[in-house]
Amino acid sequence: MNETFDAVDIIRTKRDKGTLSPEQIAWTIDAYTRGVIADEQMSALNMAILLNGMDREEISHWTTAMIASGERMDFASLGKATADKHSTGGVGDKITLPLAPLVAVFGVAVPQLSGRGLGHTGGTLDKLESIPGWRALLTNDEMMNQLADVGAVICAAGSGLAPADKKLYALRDVTGTVEAIPLIASSIMSKKIAEGTGSLVLDVKVGSGAFMKDERNARELAETMVALGKDAGVNTVALLTDMSTPLGLTAGNAIEVEESVEVLAGGGPEDVVELTVKLAEEMLQAAGVADADPASALRDGRAMDVWKSMIRAQGGDPDAPLPVAKESEVVYAPADGVLVQLDALSVGVAAWRLGAGRARKEDAVQAGAGVRLHAKPGATVRAGEPLMTLLTDTPEKFDRAKDALRDAVVIAPEGSRPARRLIIDRIA
Ligand code: URA
Repeated sequence: MNETFDAVDIIRTKRDKGTLSPEQIAWTIDAYTRGVIADEQMSALNMAILLNGMDREEISHWTTAMIASGERMDFASLGKATADKHSTGGVGDKITLPLAPLVAVFGVAVPQLSGRGLGHTGGTLDKLESIPGWRALLTNDEMMNQLADVGAVICAAGSGLAPADKKLYALRDVTGTVEAIPLIASSIMSKKIAEGTGSLVLDVKVGSGAFMKDERNARELAETMVALGKDAGVNTVALLTDMSTPLGLTAGNAIEVEESVEVLAGGGPEDVVELTVKLAEEMLQAAGVADADPASALRDGRAMDVWKSMIRAQGGDPDAPLPVAKESEVVYAPADGVLVQLDALSVGVAAWRLGAGRARKEDAVQAGAGVRLHAKPGATVRAGEPLMTLLTDTPEKFDRAKDALRDAVVIAPEGSRPARRLIIDRIA
């Protein structure tokens, strides 16, 4: 077959800081999906994009081309507003678990297509799979039925959504090109737009445990994604939120489910509750629901009722005991004072090395593994007090996990006050 463009010309254009036309971009994504553009050519193009960027028009055409590579879902037949949330990923980020049922309480359908973890950030599906019987894979019909009956579904994204992104993301992962803002924005938004949600709230994380370590880059990513969403007719807002320290007191799988259930029971750590309620308010507002009070639905059990129905609808037993790690080891505070830093990335890497995460896509995760925190930044601690408990089924992993935590903790003299703004900004 005669091809319209030549891959080498396209690579040269980006290498020389030129602009790709809509036709060139549509062809590139299509030709790569068909195998006409080779992996080594796409790697070179990705690197040129990482180094030289793309303008808003190019990013928009790139996103459109990725959407066109697969199916588009449509929830219009539900007759309800739909809202979704996407987090760019962090340590201890279990917010989707209490959030989806909480928003559904107010009559908004939440089709939450989620992924598995790779590297130090956990995956929502890995966490939920620690619930006995729960299954992540649903057909489109099962998903629609559950949205109609229960109002919320958290399940695996089918392979039909933006298949170009799957291939491209796997290539970026092994070629040092994940961190390009145009590629991250188009990757996330192509899947969210293809999923067919009416409104979308983005939780863009900032800090050591996030993709974006500094606020400037996180802001640029958020602004790019909000513009892509709006251009596609999805009511989109973004929050920039802190990921310098883990969210809540747990990083792992079953232990994060346990903490989410505490939040659904009206308790749980303050930061997890604050972010869950704020994101619920944003989702409800974006979906056109006025005057909702999500905090009350956590306190009075309505969100818990939806959670139990949602878990049961996917074969899980919400009342079954969760798996527990076979072995544990405690890390103690080295000095008296105020805990001013508890580094998110270090805790994430430790949880990952304990078995909560995977190094390769095909690896299995341990349901009970992870890190349980006993103090958060701002707490006064005494030397010898437990700071964290490390959990695993494979005790030979303790040493490597402790290596990751070597510089995680900073304790300052009493009177010091670490400043943490959990919600840094809102971008609409
Ligand atoms: N998550 C995605 O889905 N894509 C990226 O490129 C980065 C994070």
